[in-house]
This record gives sequence, C-alpha cells and structure tokens, in this order.
Amino acid sequence: MKDKTPKYISDAEMHKQREYIAKIHAEVERAGRVPLAFVETYGCQQNTSDSEKIKGMLSDMGFDFCDKPEDADFILYNTCAVRENAELRVFGNLGALKNIKRRRENENKNVIIAVCGCMMQQEHIAKRIKSKYKHVDLVFGTHALYRFPQLLDAVIAGGRIFDIENSDGAVFEDISYKRDGIPLAKIPIMYGCNNFCTYCIVPYVRGRERSRSAKKILDEVRDVASKGYREVMLLGQNVNSYGNDLETGLSFPQLLREVCRVKGIERVRFMTSHPKDISDELIKTMAEEKKICNQLHLPVQSGSDRVLKLMNRKYTAEQYLSIVKKVRAAIPDIVLTTDIIVGFPGETNEDFEETLNILKEVEYDTIFSFIFSKREGTPAAKMEDCLTDEEKHRNFDRMLELQNEISRRKNEAYTGTVQKVLTEGASKTNPETMTGRTEGGKVVNFKAKDCAVGQIVNVKITNAQTWSLTGEIAK
Ligand code: SAH
Ligand code: SF4
Ligand code: F3S
Repeated sequence: MKDKTPKYISDAEMHKQREYIAKIHAEVERAGRVPLAFVETYGCQQNTSDSEKIKGMLSDMGFDFCDKPEDADFILYNTCAVRENAELRVFGNLGALKNIKRRRENENKNVIIAVCGCMMQQEHIAKRIKSKYKHVDLVFGTHALYRFPQLLDAVIAGGRIFDIENSDGAVFEDISYKRDGIPLAKIPIMYGCNNFCTYCIVPYVRGRERSRSAKKILDEVRDVASKGYREVMLLGQNVNSYGNDLETGLSFPQLLREVCRVKGIERVRFMTSHPKDISDELIKTMAEEKKICNQLHLPVQSGSDRVLKLMNRKYTAEQYLSIVKKVRAAIPDIVLTTDIIVGFPGETNEDFEETLNILKEVEYDTIFSFIFSKREGTPAAKMEDCLTDEEKHRNFDRMLELQNEISRRKNEAYTGTVQKVLTEGASKTNPETMTGRTEGGKVVNFKAKDCAVGQIVNVKITNAQTWSLTGEIAK
C-alpha cells in the first residue's frame, strides 16, 4: 500500500532551527563584524533552489555574501552526484581550499568549510572526505538541509560534524529564501524520485517522491509575485506525479491552473516531465492556459527500444513520438528540448543510429547530451559495455554536429518575427545590450536603453545563432 502520510518537518522542529539562527545572529552582532559567506552550487535547479534556502538562512544569521572563497569566513559547496565529472570538480576545488584555510590560520583568522548536497548522501564519498579532506568542518546530505542552523552552531562551538543520515527526506517549510534576482523564481513542488532509471543516482541521494502541499506552493507563488517576480518555474524530478502521495492533493495540471490564477505572474514553466506520465489533461491545460509557456523539456534519453528497456524508462520510441505529435497538435509553436545519454552500457552503433533518427524526426530546439557515467550503486554500473570510449566520443560528436545544424535552422525560422521577451538584465559583455527570454525560453540579446528588468517587451528578431537570438525593440 502506498504511504499516504508525507513527512513534513514539524513546526516545533523548525521553531528550534529558527532559534539556532537567532543564536548565531546574536553572536555575529556581538562580534561587531559582518561575516562573509561563499556558496557555490553544482547540479540541477533543485540544488540551486536548495542553495537559495541555505543563503536565506545565512542571511538571517547576519552573513553577507562574497564572490571569492579567499574572502569568505564560511565556504559551502552544494554538490551534484549525477555524473562523475561533477564530482571530480568538487574534489578538485575542495583540495584547493586547504591552502586558503592554512593562509587564513596563519593570519589568525578562521574559515569554516562545509560541503552538502547530493554527493554527500553517498556513503563512500562522505567517508573519503572524512579521512582525506581533514580541512572540511561540516558535511551534510540533502535530507539534513533543514537542520543546517543547528549543524553550523555545533561547528562554531568547535565540532567537526558529519550528518549524512539516510532518512528518506522530509519536506520543510517556512524558511526564508535568498533568491536569485527577478524576474524568475524557482519553486520546488516536490522532492525525490520514484522512477529508478537504471543509470541514475538521484533516487538514492534524494529519496522517494514527496509533494509539498498546494497551499504552501501557492502561498509562495503569491509571495514572489508581490516581490516583483514575473515568472515561476515549478520544480520536481517528475512534476507529473505531483500529488500522488497526498490524500487530498491536486493533480499537477490542477496545480498549474491554480498557479496561473495568481496576479502578477505572467509566465509559468515546469521541469522535468517524465514522458511516461504526460497526461492528455496536462497537454490540454498547457494549450488552454495562456500563462503556461510554450516550452516542454521531455527527456527521451535514447531512441532505441532495447536501450530504453535497459534504462527502465517504461516507454518505447514510438510511444514517445506519439506524445510529441499530440503536444505539437495542441501547441503548434511549442519549443521542445530533451536529454540524451550516449554510450549507455549495451548500446551498439545501431542503437545509437536510432537515437539520431529521433533527433531528426522530432527536431528539438536544443538537446542536453551526456556520455554515460557509471554511478556506484545503480543497476547500470554493473552492466557490460559494447562500445569503446573512442566510439562513444565519436558518436557524441556526430550527434552534436547534427543537433547544432537543427538548432540553428530552428532559430533561423525566428528571424523577422516579433517575440515577447521578458527582460532579465544587461548583457555581461555589453551594457547597452539587454538580455531576456522568449516565451519558448530562447535567449534574446537586443539593444535597449532604459529598459527595466522584469518587463515583457516586443522584440523583432534580426539574427539567429545556434544558442541564442539577436534583435531590436519592435517599433
Ligand atoms: N529527473 C530528470 C533529470 C534528472 S538528471 C529527468 O528524469 O529527466 C538530468 C539528466 O542527466 C538526465 O535526464 C540524464 O540524461 C542525465 N543523467 C543522469 N544520470 C546519468 C548518468 N549516470 N550518466 C550520464 N548522464 C546521466
Ligand atoms: Fe533520474 Fe529517472 Fe528519476 Fe529522472 S526520472 S531523476 S532520470 S531516476
Ligand atoms: Fe545532481 Fe542532485 Fe540534481 S545529483 S542533478 S543536484 S538532484
């Protein structure tokens, strides 16, 4: 039987954590100097959102933020475990912090080094940090996020703390966020994943699916709207199963409709949708609700039925294509993106050709492609490879070449059209250029003076590149 009782962290527990925040804040005030925190985030939007919560807690403790670890009193890496290269980067960067800490200590200054996130929820990684990275003071997993204030307090008192209990997570509320700036607010609607795709570490490091209550989500959407955010991105590893664990919950399409009712919010996006759970109701809702962006990220992973079965994806290429057809029939201008894994164990060159065929058939606007990375503890880590590394890289390059051509062609079709662009800020390289996104999520750079952030403006597209569009304010 399904567990119908989602685990929410109690109000009493969150109250206790807020008391730790107040305690640290009082110590900061007594010290009479604003401490600086450096927070670096790896991985997906879920991790970015977690970092916004941690930064919110730090801010409430009296911390300010800096851009360089050298300047910080508190350094935190929020890590990702999805592929090996993400992990290698963290270990490399952690190694470099040893010198920073030593230099600080020579100046009689202390720096606290902390690591959290998905990597820390793997026992072998936490063990390695414990024994080989002695300069790390605090390690906590995704499930311990809500007790960060208590953990930091224990470190300040002189402890070296490892909190990586695998408690299958919990949902906590009522904590302040320090969000990235307007116009886009990321709002988690659920945590964890039940799908166990055979290559993927996420269900092991994030636990089972837990939905937030619709009330809390809608309160948060109203809150960000009142603060000037114009766009919300609803986050979950598989948003289509939102509410399955709630007794009286709304379905995902119903939740979307409620979010669209919130005044001030102009655009609604969501990530990610597992193809097996895309319902007709969702497609209808997307077509009917004007605020839902004409964009869908629909990870296909492979075009070969044999590989899809080995991956435990629970759909065939044909079923996937029929979903794409339905979506396009309902929303003709939909911008489609996907994720692809190249070199999954057992994938042959013939299987790979089938993936290329899917790319040619669907013509995605953009793809996110990855070479398979063995994740300890997942079923695919024990499967046999067919292709050599060289063959996998050759296939990967061929795929990018094909897709770049498609992406460019797709973008060129926008030349001469007028797009509604939500402005995000001045371009980093040219202050006279603004950057923003179309409803389909495409980046547009355009010349504009005195154009505020968070405005929807009409931009005429004058030029197309593979990854972005260029334009000018439409007369
Ligand atoms: N829940 C989302 C995304 C999870 S991770 C979904 O189901 O789409 C993002 C992407 O990383 C996946 O879609 C997959 O393409 C890729 N990925 C996950 N595990 C991987 C692995 N072991 N090796 C290579 N790519 C992987
Ligand atoms: Fe990983 Fe699959 Fe869950 Fe996505 S749906 S997080 S790929 S197990
Ligand atoms: Fe990485 Fe964790 Fe996201 S493993 S992709 S940061 S859920």
